[in-house]
Amino acid sequence: MDKFVIAGGTALKGEIPTNGSKNSALPALAAALLTEEPVTLHRIPKVRDIRTMQRLLVDIGSQVEVDGDTVRMLTPRITSPEAPYELVKTMRASSLVLGPLVARSGRARVSLPGGCAIGARPINLHIFGLEQLGARINQAYGYIEAEAPDGLRGATVHFDRITVTGTEDLMMAAVLAKGETVLRNAAREPEVVDLAEMLTAMGARIEGAGTSTVVIQGVERLSGTEHTIIPDRIEAGTFVVAGAITDGDLLVTDCCPEHLGALVSKLQQAGVDVTQPGPTSLRVRGRGRIRSVDMTTEEYPGFATDLQAQYMALMTQADGIAMIVETIFENRFMHAQELARMGANIRLEGRQAIVAGKRELTGAGVIASDLRASASLVLAALVAKGETVIDRVYHIDRGYEKIEAKLAQAGADIRRVE
Ligand code: EPU
Repeated sequence: MDKFVIAGGTALKGEIPTNGSKNSALPALAAALLTEEPVTLHRIPKVRDIRTMQRLLVDIGSQVEVDGDTVRMLTPRITSPEAPYELVKTMRASSLVLGPLVARSGRARVSLPGGCAIGARPINLHIFGLEQLGARINQAYGYIEAEAPDGLRGATVHFDRITVTGTEDLMMAAVLAKGETVLRNAAREPEVVDLAEMLTAMGARIEGAGTSTVVIQGVERLSGTEHTIIPDRIEAGTFVVAGAITDGDLLVTDCCPEHLGALVSKLQQAGVDVTQPGPTSLRVRGRGRIRSVDMTTEEYPGFATDLQAQYMALMTQADGIAMIVETIFENRFMHAQELARMGANIRLEGRQAIVAGKRELTGAGVIASDLRASASLVLAALVAKGETVIDRVYHIDRGYEKIEAKLAQAGADIRRVE
């Protein structure tokens, strides 16, 4: 199993580019199942979750060709409308094929995801939505079977809590349903908007993506398309925090600053100098001192739960006490114990973490528990005194493409060892 060995203490300087968004690419790949025509997707990040999705799509019947960061897909026929447990257990986003499969072939069999490191993460709302659209659902032997032999019918679906992939799954189901579907309390994340743009280019009729009410008029069929994925706001945000925590001077390029408003606002309140020198870049400069600022995670456009762990690492280096509240997932503080092993002073009380700074961090052996938790350990290691060894970096490889090379390019002393 690979490990990262990081020697802390270097202020990051220079430029780091951003990849395409993992969480946008995953539904985009699933959406290609909706047509028998070719779909070309640009800016697909080379991360493990994307490879898992591509394997799943091949099993389902797609031809998938990867050429750099471009992926070409052709799905003349759905040969096996199934997402097996072996794949779903390694990546919950496999459930994104549920909606497109029922819409295209009238049938889907998708393994129920089990528990997850960061919370229970059920998919009851995906299932409820499909039922509203007229699918018959049967649950047995750990699988969800959905059937709509005569096609789906448009309906109103009110999500009783906001779900990102649930909104995406239902959008992909509704585009080929008969009549109008209204999704209420829909997720407003940029990834939802990106998917809506791709589907619209394929001939779907969607209004309101990016607001809490999405209205979809079903169409008979969708055509192929060529689409470029939006920048990964979580990857970009992680690099922005890397610049701040190391008191560096870093330009994060090829990103979409508008998608990072909540993070930038918090950093500015904390006294970090963050500016937008161009439409696709953010510059972050340390001012030698960071103030503690409380933060609560929220759905977009609030502060992303996927940046909470990274923000916690930053707050260990801030003067004062910061209260961090996690509202999206019930168990997303696993990094706190590992940060504590490096010298951080963090008290957990249910969904609240109280971070007392500024503490000098020291290198230690730590274990990555999930994707974003691993990113926070890398950030902490960049400022820690001495050497940190992070085990189980396969978690980080799920969502960050060559993070060690990108950080090294900005001066970090980081290497991967087997
Ligand atoms: N929820 C339910 N029932 C459902 C669906 C969700 O109760 O049917 C709950 C979840 O348990 C959670 C909350 O609703 O407490 C929000 O979950 P959501 O469905 O929005 O999460 P997701 O769609 O499974 C996506 C991202 C996550 C990100 C969350 C929240 C993808 C592939 N994944 O997950 O990304 O944390 O939205 O923004 O888009 C990551 O990239 O590291 C990651 C975990």
